[in-house]
Amino acid sequence: MKFFIDSAEPEEVREACDWGLVDGVTTNPSLIAKTGRPYADVLRELCQIVDGPINAEVVAEEAATMVEEGQKLAQLDPKIVVKCPLTVEGLKATRALCRRSIAVNVTLIFSPLQALAAAKCGAAYVSPFIGRLDDIGQDGFCLVEQIVKIFKNYSFATQVLVASVRSPHHLLRAAEVGAHIATLPFNVIKQIVKHPLTDIGLKNFLCDWNKTKQHI
Ligand code: E4P
Repeated sequence: MKFFIDSAEPEEVREACDWGLVDGVTTNPSLIAKTGRPYADVLRELCQIVDGPINAEVVAEEAATMVEEGQKLAQLDPKIVVKCPLTVEGLKATRALCRRSIAVNVTLIFSPLQALAAAKCGAAYVSPFIGRLDDIGQDGFCLVEQIVKIFKNYSFATQVLVASVRSPHHLLRAAEVGAHIATLPFNVIKQIVKHPLTDIGLKNFLCDWNKTKQHI
């Protein structure tokens, strides 16, 4: 299973990369806006840090302009994956970009049939937003399960990229149902490596070792 980091902050991306836990990056217009920096500068910097796909979203709402934006984003670096929203225009743009050999992640997916439509248009990735479904009292994981099953049934090469992850539990469920990728905020990455028994166990081992007065 691959872990992407859901962030446009180069410092936290660099740190998570140093831990060996980053296979790629997802950004969205809100994350880019939070940086207060020019979009292309942020993307170029992320491409230098991470050896893997860097997802960058278009902001147009009409297919022809989405395609233009997608091509511009893709020209920044071969690692760029273009994110298009799951709208009719987004699907048209996805198809056009795929035909130009540009990898597309179809985002803002909230139903299994939206995911199927995106896969049929050639999407390399689909992004079901599980946290936002949980927020309105629906089961985000039921959606991921359904998408994984449908893609297996028809041998789609499209990868399921679980997005809107809010907790380590979300990551665990994503792994259990066989999602290819989960994109994780840095605070979730930090939580997954922590366990109180690991801390206590290490403290006790080192305490016993220090009593021996030995060195390695
Ligand atoms: C990533 O591609 C998505 O844009 C992101 O995971 C959305 O997360 P949120 O629902 O916490 O904003």
